[in-house]
Amino acid sequence: MNKCLICDNSFNPFVDFGNMPIANAFSTKKELENEYLFSMKVGFCENCNMVQLLEQPDREKMFHDNYAFFSSTSNYMISHFRKFSNSVTSLQNLDQKSFVVEIGSNDGIMLQNFVSDKIPCLGIEPSKNVAEVSKSKGIEVITEFFDKLLADKISKNYQKADAILSANVMCHIPYMHSIYEGVKTLLNEEGVFIFEDPYLGEIIEKTSFDQIYDEHVFLFSALSISHIANMHDLELVNVEPQITHGGSMRYTIAHKGVKQVSQNVISLIKKEKEIGLDRNDAYLDFTASVNKIKNDLIELLNNLKNAGKKVVAYGATSKSTTVTNYFGITPNLVECIYDTTPIKQNKYSPGAHIPVLPYDQFRDSNPDYVLLFAWNHSEEIMKKEIDFMGDQRHWITYIPNVKVS
Ligand code: SAH
Ligand code: TYD
Repeated sequence: MNKCLICDNSFNPFVDFGNMPIANAFSTKKELENEYLFSMKVGFCENCNMVQLLEQPDREKMFHDNYAFFSSTSNYMISHFRKFSNSVTSLQNLDQKSFVVEIGSNDGIMLQNFVSDKIPCLGIEPSKNVAEVSKSKGIEVITEFFDKLLADKISKNYQKADAILSANVMCHIPYMHSIYEGVKTLLNEEGVFIFEDPYLGEIIEKTSFDQIYDEHVFLFSALSISHIANMHDLELVNVEPQITHGGSMRYTIAHKGVKQVSQNVISLIKKEKEIGLDRNDAYLDFTASVNKIKNDLIELLNNLKNAGKKVVAYGATSKSTTVTNYFGITPNLVECIYDTTPIKQNKYSPGAHIPVLPYDQFRDSNPDYVLLFAWNHSEEIMKKEIDFMGDQRHWITYIPNVKVS
């Protein structure tokens, strides 16, 4: 039995992915000699409804001065964060006297908007290489991990925040109580904590199991977020679905009793109970669906190999690390992965050791089939490649099920 990171209740895992490497550890041949692996199992706590990894690597193994994820590689995400910033500015009536803090500001994709709107802001970003990019955009950044201690320092040295923002970061942090204590201290009386992360309801509905990897220690729902907010005298006051990262949820949290709880929250919690996110059965069905995708995809790739087809992959995502390692996809089945991120290029994918090549070489490689690991950007990518793919080449996708198009 394992203990819940939120409420200490005991629970069992519902899926065991076996040994996994660090999802973003795209490495040289030499670095692969000492590849770190951890046991990746996921469980559901029936008391507080939190879905979580049972074990997670130390944070310094994932977030450091060579971090491979740069937020601004997608044009869609750049415009998403422009709209996100605008919505916060109008919700909180932000101006030059306001103060915005972002947790996990990465290359500045969100805060660059507040800088250009002249709204004072501060980024917290422990991965130094990505933080440097944001500093070069004129953003002030503290290169440390956010927690209660850092929140105390910021409250003292700056001012209380009108808005604390975070995207695709909260679900990475196992020491969640320290974060909520920090938020409670740093937020001013009318302040809001707004964050978004891949949404558990979408993950279960689409069987997007590849959202589960070392960095994603939690898969959130309105049920679990309202539970933890309550534990800290805070309140979930709004939820807004997003299409980013294959289906996300934006949560707005305020000091308890200060803001009206929106009907969206009440409806989403009702829906989550209807689809069984508060019961173990839903998670057992999910595991069965993951294993069906596994069998179907491996069968397809084996058939294509036997037919002499050239299969390459597109997008060296963190998510693909779960797919390749759990399914056993090696260079034998997928020759290489093409990606636009310089730090990932001419390296090998974690665990499966598939070569990652610069995107510039993709079209010359003349593939028959392209396995789309960056399926969450499928609209942007398929549009870009429509002429090249023509009628002779085919995409392979596997969420929600295996499909050749
Ligand atoms: N917000 C960006 C980046 C998400 S990647 C986006 O949505 O695109 C997750 C980021 O969180 C990484 O840059 C990582 O360094 C940072 N991070 C991880 N733990 C953190 C913590 N405790 N405090 C602040 N940032 C953290
Ligand atoms: P993403 O899906 O954002 O992240 P995660 O790592 O969280 O699973 O990663 C997208 C990857 O795909 C990133 O390495 C950049 C790459 N990419 C391309 O190569 N071409 C593209 O057109 C796009 C949109 C992304």
